[in-house]
This record gives sequence, structure tokens and C-alpha cells, in this order.
Amino acid sequence: MRNDLTRRGFVKAAAAGSAAMAWLSTGRAPSVFAAEGNEKLAIDGGTPVRKTPLRSQPYGPQFYDDVEKRELLDVLESRAPFRWYGLKGPSKVLQFEKMYADHIGVKHALGVTSGTTALFTAMAALEIGPGDEVILPAWTWYADYDAVVLSGALPVFVEIDESFSMDPTEIEAKITPRTKAIIPSSLQGSVADMDPIMEIARKHKLRVVEDFSQCVGGRYKGKYLGSIGDFAINSFQLGKTITSGDGGAVLTNDPELFERAIRFHDVSSVRSPYRELLGGGILAGFASCNFRMNEFTGAVLKGQVQKLATICSGLRTNSRKVREDIADLPGLKLRKTNDLDGDLGVTVFLDHGTRKRRDRFLRALRAEGIAASGPGGSVILPADERIEKKLTIHPDWPSFNSPQGKAIRYGKESCPRTIDIIDRFGGVIMDPTFTDEDLSDIVRAIRKVYLAMGSA
Ligand SMILES: Cc1ncc(COP(=O)(O)O)c(C=O)c1O
Repeated sequence: MRNDLTRRGFVKAAAAGSAAMAWLSTGRAPSVFAAEGNEKLAIDGGTPVRKTPLRSQPYGPQFYDDVEKRELLDVLESRAPFRWYGLKGPSKVLQFEKMYADHIGVKHALGVTSGTTALFTAMAALEIGPGDEVILPAWTWYADYDAVVLSGALPVFVEIDESFSMDPTEIEAKITPRTKAIIPSSLQGSVADMDPIMEIARKHKLRVVEDFSQCVGGRYKGKYLGSIGDFAINSFQLGKTITSGDGGAVLTNDPELFERAIRFHDVSSVRSPYRELLGGGILAGFASCNFRMNEFTGAVLKGQVQKLATICSGLRTNSRKVREDIADLPGLKLRKTNDLDGDLGVTVFLDHGTRKRRDRFLRALRAEGIAASGPGGSVILPADERIEKKLTIHPDWPSFNSPQGKAIRYGKESCPRTIDIIDRFGGVIMDPTFTDEDLSDIVRAIRKVYLAMGSA
């Protein structure tokens, strides 16, 4: 019955002209849409598009083969798992760092233990601390916020736009004399709008830390993400484009920032061969950590970097096919893109107008055997309870104890646009190994559900 009503809504709209408009622009006759929209949905007892459900799998491990195996065996057989001791050949971590820096197009890359520790390293290298403010998107991963707060600085959020990245037009209103850096995140495979962000940063003398953890291999106007800001970080955790289970990297063209990053991640020291490159030794008085990457992780990542282009190309090809084959749907609105060719195509997300419609679409798609979800892998930070209540690790922690920190208001009211966007969008997570049959099932299911639900 629900299906009948919604379908009638669409057919009525078609009669009123919207499908006729679609016909003019796409060449598909309205009757074709109406016929497709007549199929009984699986959620209403109809036959599902797929009997065995289709869902994407973590990308990197699907491409593990003899390359990673050989690299790992080298480390095992050499009995030298620590990058600075007892090596019988070149360090795997160092080889990975060089290959990765070359691929992304930066002078320096440093392997660390995770994306989170890469962010901590970025804060330390940029000397961000108490009294400073850092601008970040309201929708991103916890680690961006954690790194700012744990450095003692104050996080200041800006709303996202329909690309799910920070809206550059919102940034300037948030800049104060205390602002030191901006952290744009490129989320779920779609690149942040880096040109206006860099322009604002240059104008106000701010540093930019790109977080491209969810978009490794993404390009913005011909440049790889990770090569545009002053500093960049990414994660190699399981859900990322390439993976060693856990792991991370920091990237920069600036030798001074690189030296500080090296020192911070390795008990203040700079060891060979970076010592010869940058000058080095132990620097007394520079507080630091141990976020060193081990040789096993370096070995897997050395193998995975060689697969990066293949994984990205598979994702792009597959998402393009789905986008093209649903492009004629009347009233279709896809996620905004800041560079369609540079995006990874990790998702094909549709704007459903409201959360209620989005949720209905997702349930119906899942019933057709196609895994579907809303935006994921990140959180709406200002609305998170611990941030709203400004909870930190100690009551005297500096982040929120300045007059500015006390005055700032977080919570749902501070980011209504972000919440609305995240509520409205839903779609399919792509996979570089989806077959033609998988792709045509995705297209069939989207078309079937979308047309049955109507465009109104
Ligand atoms: C955008 C973003 N930044 C940082 C991180 C932190 O990376 P890790 O899990 O390796 O610490 C993640 C992890 O999901 C992420 O998605």
C-alpha cells in the first residue's frame, strides 16, 4: 500500500510534466520510467534484485598478494623488525616513505603508527598549543578534534556543504587573532575544496593541515591530496584506500616541519639517513613521543602503495558507471563534488530531501540485496555530548579554560546545516572489485526504489 501511494505520487508528477522534462533532457520516454517504477519492491514482498546481498569489503586486503608476502617475509627472515637497528638491507619503512612521497608529489613523507598519531605529530610540528585556535569541519573523525584538544588548543567548528567537506565560505567568520591552523578533511572519497581554503589561509597567515585519511589517492585540480597544504596526514587503518591494519603518515614539503615531525615521533632524535639530510642528533628540551612505524607495517605499505593507482582506478570506474546509469532519474541530486575526476568514487550518495525519505530509501535498497547507508566513518563533533559539555582529560586542561574556551557554544544549534546534510544523504559504498553484474544490480536497485518512491 505504501508503495502504491508513493508510486502514484511519482506517476502524478510525471503526468504534470517532470518526467516529460526528464524525457526532453535524457531521451527516455516517461512510459519507461513509469514501467520501471511499477516493479513491486522487495520491502513490500516483491522479488529482490539480488538473492545474495552485495556489500563493499575493505579495499586494501583484497589486493594483498605475493608482493606484500615477499616484503613481509624479508623482514621476518632478516630478524630486523625495528627500522633503526640491525637491518641487512634498506629499511622497508624508508622505502615505503620514499615511494609514497613520490606518488603523492611531496618532498617528505614519514610513516607513523596511525592517523591519530599523525595528527598529534602535525600539531607538535606546527607548535600548536594553549591559546591557539584550530578550525575544523563539524563533520569529521574524532582524531581531528582529539589532536587539537590534547595539544591544549581550542577547536572551532565550521559547517560542511553538500560535498560533506568544510564549507570554505564559513571559514573567515570563525577566524580570530588566535587562529593558527585549518584542518580540512576530505571525507568518504570526496576531495575538500582546497583552493579557497588555501587562499583564506594565505590571506590570514594560517597553516593548513590536510586530513586525507578517507581519500588517499584523491586529486584536486590535478594535484594529489596531501601535496596542497603546509602539512598533511593520513591513516592506513583497515577502512582506508590502502591498509596495513593500522598505520599513518605525515607529509610536507617543508624541511623544518619535517624535522620537527621526525623528532616528535621518535623521542626527539633524528637518525640516519634523515640525520644526513636534515642535520640532527638528540634535541634536549623538545617533548616528544614514540610513534615510529615498524618494519612489518612498512613492508605491507610498500606493497600497498604499488596497488594504490589500481584501487583508485577501480573505484572511479565503478562509481562513474553507476552515476551515468542513474543520471536520467527525474529530480536526481547527487552529492556535490569539488573535482569529479579527482574524487575516489568511494560512494554514490543521493540527496533524498529529508531523513525520513532517506531512511526509507536505504531500507528498501537493503531489501533489494544492496548494502546501503547514510554518510559514515565520521561524527558530527560539536553535537557530541563530550564536546558539548567540554569534557577533557583534566578540569584544568587549557583547551576550554581560556575566556574564549568558556564562551564558545557547541551543540546541535551550532551546526544545523551539517546535521541536515548528513540526515538527507544516503546511497551505496562502492568497491573497486565490483563486477559488471554487481554494478548493474546496484543500478537496477537504485532505479527501482527511486522510481517507486517518486521524485516528489
Ligand atoms: C578523517 C580521519 N582522520 C583521522 C583518522 C584517524 O586514523 P587512525 O584510525 O589511523 O588513528 C581517521 C580514522 O578513521 C579518519 O577517518
